[in-house]
Amino acid sequence: MERKKITISDLMAKKEKGSKITMLTAYDYPTAQMVDKAGIDTILVGDSLGMVVLGYTSTVPVTMEEMIHHTKAVTRGTTYAFVIGDMPFMSYQTGIEKAIENAGRFIKEGECDAVKLEGGSEVAPVVKAIVTAGIPVCTHIGLTPQTATQLSGFKVQGKDAESARNLINSAKDLEKAGAFMVVMECIPEILASRITRELRIPTIGIGAGKDCDGQVLVYHDTVGLFERFTPKFVKQYIKLGPMIIDALKEYKKEVEDGVFPGEEHTFKMSKEEAEKI
Ligand code: KIV
Repeated sequence: MERKKITISDLMAKKEKGSKITMLTAYDYPTAQMVDKAGIDTILVGDSLGMVVLGYTSTVPVTMEEMIHHTKAVTRGTTYAFVIGDMPFMSYQTGIEKAIENAGRFIKEGECDAVKLEGGSEVAPVVKAIVTAGIPVCTHIGLTPQTATQLSGFKVQGKDAESARNLINSAKDLEKAGAFMVVMECIPEILASRITRELRIPTIGIGAGKDCDGQVLVYHDTVGLFERFTPKFVKQYIKLGPMIIDALKEYKKEVEDGVFPGEEHTFKMSKEEAEKI
């Protein structure tokens, strides 16, 4: 059955009704198709692709070209989910014009529905400018991986009253600037719950507890395809990595033993034609 593509109004309505919003990352066509078929509301083409599919040690080296390339593949595989392209480090920090231009590339070339960028009150003017240009913006506060060095590493944010207040103010400034959604990463549950109550727009948590309007996880963490490290907030629903390795070992053995390809995988020609060769 053909399903109607998710819109920002659908996401707002979910918050109003108290039904949870689901989000997963995807970086390629077949994954996007599976996430879409599973009925996940929103797909984030996260810059986490730098770590989980390109093998970088952080998200910092990810380029606009890499993001656009993967966003195109994801949107080709999606008919239902609302797709958000993640703006990579230094694609929105060097000036408002550059930020609008790069956000525009996600929409025009990547054909996604919205962009995401990291930061608090300090990025509100950039958010406002991109939204004014007609592009919906999702923001990302708390642990912001692109600037993790400045935060002294991958740590829970907003654990003391002052930094918690800063995060509440940031969320409000970003909403005022026109953001349609806020991702909150690695913050205490009580703080995420307060921000969720105080905002009109939906909040999506990752390591922010159960009271957010929705949840996001990195696809490769969720299905057990990324082994380098597993943060506390990840739940692995299946361990695909070892299953795939076992299947590949079986393929290797069957080739080495002459079992594959079998008759059913083999093309034939008539004996008469073969004799004429
Ligand atoms: O890049 C990403 O996948 C993200 C999510 C973890 C929110 O920003």
